[in-house]
Amino acid sequence: MKQRLNQFILSITILSLGCVISLPVSAAEGTNTILGTKHDFTGLNQRTGVVAMSGLAFSDYGSSCVYCHIPPEQEDADSTPFGGIEGWNRFLPATEHSYDLYNSRTLDNKVKSPSPISLLCLSCHDGTMGVDMTVFRPNGWRSSEDAAMHLRINGDNNTMNCAKCHNGRVAHNIAIKHIGTDLTNDHPISMRYAGLSSKDLDFRQPDSPYGFDNGVKLYDERVECASCHNVHNPDIQVLLRDRADRLCETCHIK
Ligand code: HEC
Ligand code: HEC
Ligand code: HEC
Ligand code: HEC
Ligand code: HEC
Repeated sequence: MKQRLNQFILSITILSLGCVISLPVSAAEGTNTILGTKHDFTGLNQRTGVVAMSGLAFSDYGSSCVYCHIPPEQEDADSTPFGGIEGWNRFLPATEHSYDLYNSRTLDNKVKSPSPISLLCLSCHDGTMGVDMTVFRPNGWRSSEDAAMHLRINGDNNTMNCAKCHNGRVAHNIAIKHIGTDLTNDHPISMRYAGLSSKDLDFRQPDSPYGFDNGVKLYDERVECASCHNVHNPDIQVLLRDRADRLCETCHIK
């Protein structure tokens, strides 16, 4: 029944997409770099002139930060007893131990499971959980008024996924953002950085234990999604920390 109701709401929404209204962007949005980017879920409806996303595709918690960070008023709260990722306001993907991580004969450091800061990214980008699946909700948010479908970043066109609209026809295709749980074709993550000592001639030594002067970061001496991507800085395409042609040679000596 719930499923059918949701489908009904979705079809009404798709019908009403014909009349698109553009609202002005508030000046406050310039004050933080997340605001106005693709990770800013609160401003989404206004920005795109669509009434379909915040509140319907996913819950609007009234703050863009809480989709990743523990809400400020619960800042000392620990998400792990609730199944959260340590330090973040998101649940551990059930697939935590079943990611197929990149592996090859030449890889020095084999890894079984991604670190928390990469699990944060995967909790949305592996397509198994809704983008609004947070451990804590801000005080004052009323779950009783929640009408959202809790859609996922997943390229399969069905009522569980953003691809219901984001299929390249109703809205831009979301499939490329769906990394999935098979990471074998992606850059390796969560391995200890091979260039920490000068012994490995294929890798540069970092400028500090925290990374490189151009902004590429190491986390606990490891390479993570956030080593290459800065979700807080949209200056470079796909949120990279340096231009794609310079990014690789930050670490790799070719
Ligand atoms: C998509 C997930 C995501 C969202 C949304 C997000 N952040 Fe972050 N935030 C991160 C990540 C990942 C880091 C760590 C980045 C790093 O190490 O450079 C971070 C780091 C920070 C830091 C620095 C903490 C430190 O240790 O240096 C602050 C402050 C911060 N975020 C505030 C905010 C605020 C305020 C918002 C909302 C306007 C927000 N974030 C939204 C993912 C997010
Ligand atoms: C709360 C869910 C969520 C989390 C957590 C999250 N993302 Fe995203 N991310 C999204 C959504 C939604 C989009 C936009 C998809 C679209 O509409 O194309 C996106 C887009 C992106 C893009 C493409 C940006 C562009 O301009 O095209 C990159 C790169 C990215 N995310 C990296 C990350 C990294 C790295 C992390 C972890 C530090 C992360 N994301 C955490 C939901 C999330
Ligand atoms: C009912 C249809 C519909 C659904 C469901 C939907 N969207 Fe959208 N979305 C749109 C339309 C239409 C646009 C504006 C046109 C475009 O960007 O292709 C849009 C735009 C966006 C943008 C802004 C892109 C930019 O350039 O700033 C993001 C991010 C986004 N959607 C994320 C999501 C996520 C994440 C979900 C699932 C949780 C979702 N959408 C579900 C219709 C939808
Ligand atoms: C070694 C650097 C590096 C690491 C580590 C890395 N990425 Fe990326 N990522 C890139 C580059 C470069 C691109 C753009 C080139 C491309 O599209 O293939 C990209 C593209 C993306 C995109 C956007 C695809 C698109 O074209 O819109 C997303 C989303 C993304 N990465 C998420 C992640 C997540 C999640 C992780 C961790 C599981 C991760 N990345 C780890 C370098 C990296
Ligand atoms: C933050 C440092 C860093 C950046 C930036 C980086 N890499 Fe890597 N890369 C590594 C590390 C560390 C390994 C794993 C080496 C090992 O442990 O054997 C690796 C492994 C690889 C491998 C697999 C090699 C093998 O032995 O199987 C490829 C391919 C690769 N990187 C390509 C790239 C490309 C392309 C870029 C730019 C988009 C890039 N890397 C950016 C650190 C980095």
